[in-house]
Amino acid sequence: MDPRNILVTSALPYANGALHLGHVLETIQTDIWVRFQKHRGHECRYICADDAHGTAIMLKAEQLGLTPEQQIANIKAEHEKDFNGFLINFDNFHTTHSEENKQLSEEIYLRLRENGHIAKREITQLYDPEKGLFLADRFIKGSCPKCKAEDQYGDNCEACGSTYTPADLINPQSVYSGATPVKKASEHYFFKLPEFTEFLKTWTRAGHLQDSVANKLSEWLDEGLQEWDISRDAPYFGFEIPDAPGKYFYVWLDAPIGYMASFKNLCDKEAGLDFDTFWGKDSKAELYHFIGKDIINFHALFWPAMLSSAQFRTPTAVFAHGFLTVNGQKMSKSRGTFINASSYLEHLHPEYLRYYFACKLSGQVDDLDLNLEDFVSRVNADLVNKLVNIASRCAKFISKGNDGFLSKHIENPALMQQAIDASDKIAALYEQREYGKAMREIMAIADEANRYIDEKAPWSLAKQEGKEQEVIDICSMGINLFRILMTYLKPVLPEMAQASEAFLNDTLDWSGELTALTSHQINKFKPLMKRVESKQIDAMLESNQKMIDAAMGSSDKKEDKKAKKEKQPKKDKNAIADEITFDDFAKVDLRVAKIIKADHVEGADKLLALTLDLGEYGTKQVFSGIKAAYSPEDLEGKLTVMVANLQPRKMKFGMSEGMVLAAGPGGKDIWLLEPHEGAQPGMRIM
Ligand code: MSP
Ligand code: ZN
Repeated sequence: MDPRNILVTSALPYANGALHLGHVLETIQTDIWVRFQKHRGHECRYICADDAHGTAIMLKAEQLGLTPEQQIANIKAEHEKDFNGFLINFDNFHTTHSEENKQLSEEIYLRLRENGHIAKREITQLYDPEKGLFLADRFIKGSCPKCKAEDQYGDNCEACGSTYTPADLINPQSVYSGATPVKKASEHYFFKLPEFTEFLKTWTRAGHLQDSVANKLSEWLDEGLQEWDISRDAPYFGFEIPDAPGKYFYVWLDAPIGYMASFKNLCDKEAGLDFDTFWGKDSKAELYHFIGKDIINFHALFWPAMLSSAQFRTPTAVFAHGFLTVNGQKMSKSRGTFINASSYLEHLHPEYLRYYFACKLSGQVDDLDLNLEDFVSRVNADLVNKLVNIASRCAKFISKGNDGFLSKHIENPALMQQAIDASDKIAALYEQREYGKAMREIMAIADEANRYIDEKAPWSLAKQEGKEQEVIDICSMGINLFRILMTYLKPVLPEMAQASEAFLNDTLDWSGELTALTSHQINKFKPLMKRVESKQIDAMLESNQKMIDAAMGSSDKKEDKKAKKEKQPKKDKNAIADEITFDDFAKVDLRVAKIIKADHVEGADKLLALTLDLGEYGTKQVFSGIKAAYSPEDLEGKLTVMVANLQPRKMKFGMSEGMVLAAGPGGKDIWLLEPHEGAQPGMRIM
């Protein structure tokens, strides 16, 4: 096996907020791959950085009363702490707001310009005259031109779902200042992406991308590419464009160059590491970018085009992954499924999540769900009950019975060989990022190992005379199987692997042929992993929610605003349920109904049978659970609101043809309208 020279990146997280478990999914996926490569004896380096530029970061700093430099330094420390907590083993974690990145961005831009790949022209955009900022669509609000709903963002209406441009909004306002946006022209710089159409048609089909990604991109390539706007006007937190005072590189121009800059920064720290060996046009090194599916076009179109124009090498492959959902739902602050990395780490061990994600990851772009119940049972079943159990059941017999020495020979060579022979297959699965399949192969070996120990039952042999050696042989076999398993799992469970190395008095090495240990002294066994408890999950969710609620007070982002209205349906049954669209709501036919008759229902202590008068729409019978609040006589003649078009439902006591709505805390206190309050039976309520 020739050692390979590999450079790997994860996408650079924005420096405007805390890391969440979606970010963690990506870095765990990458970290496992990097650790696997190193474990197999390859030269591999893992580079990342914070993505520090852009309007969002500038405004966030302003809001906090900090300079952007202070803000990004704080966030960088926070990000590094969280990544560390998840055992993400970067070789370098830098920032895009660095001298290296400034130089490289300028150099690359100038090469693009020399090659005639930069265009310059005037464009007109909406502008906040008070704040002095050009406004992207989502920073303009107003009333929907179609349904007139107020407080809608500049690109689409949340009430009626129509899409439009900000210029169509009624009474448009800048979200920053409330000022009415004006149109303003300014000069922008563009990267001439269409000139790379042929290059990209070939590149995207040359094995650098997953098939599904290549297919998606070929649709775009066939539709025709647009020139890419790479400049932003001052004020902007970023790098000024050479020979263009007051113009800054758009954050996405210098962000991927941040990969190179972080590597350059590492080269300056590590003797013998040469920048050009990795980034030069004819580099033989391998370069891989791990990214989420939302940023594919930046990495698989703009980036290779820029690199090729600027005479650098292009990526060996771009590996896109899907999005993380929590309990089947999109991560959302309002649903309590937006879990911060730090909230997790406060309550749970990082290797639980590393293993769980590994079980669920594949080489495809599919979304991946963190189901918290499944998480608890999977981790306990596999890691504690299966894996650690092998070692803990065998260790004591070796340390007591044989002074810690493993047996001279292998009790079941066929089984040992079977475990070792799985090496190539498991390695190939790691290489292809099919971690889920790899974990299943590994756990199948763990099952075999447990079956072997169960059948041999060394604990009962230990009670019989003359079976001492047999017990040692069996338990040595168990320990050896455990050692092979931990060798395979080391990329996923680095801390547990380290603790196992201490226990085994051996280094878990996968760079060559695997063998068994014989006549080797091991150390005292210490518990390698604790069970996860559901209450840890509850505690995590609780402190996470507190943190999000606290952060909400100081921020006015779109999602946060929604979150103030909604609460977690799962945890609090009084909370407001998932949002419905206006169309959903319009389907509900709410009408004023007069209660003309209210009867007790035989055998039901909470129900009343109500006969409701809907005026010109006739009468309906409804069973309603409001008996605790009203005796039947008191209800007759009162008005209520009913859902008139609810599908009739057959109940134990008869058909119920609608539903009565009443407000109040429940029990005895439910409020209905009196007839003199002005409503007429049959009236529709909107
Ligand atoms: N700053 C850019 C990346 C620049 S790379 C030159 C960015 N930052 S991000 O913070 O929004 O996202 C960082 C990475 O996390 C991206 O790859 C993104 O796809 C990934 N994820 C963000 N939310 C995610 C999930 N919910 N699930 C999985 N990955 C997610 O984009
Ligand atoms: Zn609307």
